[in-house]
Amino acid sequence: MAVRIVPTALFDLNGKVAIVTGGGNGIGAACCRMLADSGATVVIADLRAADAQNVADEITARGGEALAMECNVLHDEDLVALVQRTVVEYGGLHILVNNAGAAAQAKKVRSTSLWTHGVSFLSIKYCATAS
Ligand SMILES: NC(=O)c1ccc[n+]([C@@H]2O[C@H](COP(=O)([O-])OP(=O)(O)OC[C@H]3O[C@@H](n4cnc5c(N)ncnc54)[C@H](O)[C@@H]3O)[C@@H](O)[C@H]2O)c1
Repeated sequence: MAVRIVPTALFDLNGKVAIVTGGGNGIGAACCRMLADSGATVVIADLRAADAQNVADEITARGGEALAMECNVLHDEDLVALVQRTVVEYGGLHILVNNAGAAAQAKKVRSTSLWTHGVSFLSIKYCATAS
């Protein structure tokens, strides 16, 4: 028998605003769905704008609040725009999921582990600073 986890039974995030970097796919997209199911408004920031929009559409189709934004977490100006738009649209920022990274993408783009870890660590630094 399948077990269905109902996040709202554990956490109530109504009135909270979350940014999830790399929210267009994989773990980040799952975080977006969980946060939205728990009541949070979710801003989905991703290099791949279409993927972020797909997740936002999925969330809004089932009654949640979500906004997709194209963003490269390695670009300061993208992060400033991301945080500014979030605050203007939703009045604040309470949750930051620094998920954007490159484990799979690194194979397609570049092969060095330095680049992979650089995206992960620098995105945390830049995103937290912009917040
Ligand atoms: N999947 C795993 O087994 C695993 C293991 C350890 C760590 N991680 C880490 O977890 C995170 C998510 O992994 P995943 O498997 O869901 O990856 P994924 O490739 O499925 O999704 C990553 C998302 O991040 C986006 N992204 C990549 N670089 C970006 C950038 N510079 N700016 C904005 N968005 C960017 C991609 O477009 C993609 O939508 C990554 O940081 C990864 O390094 C994953």
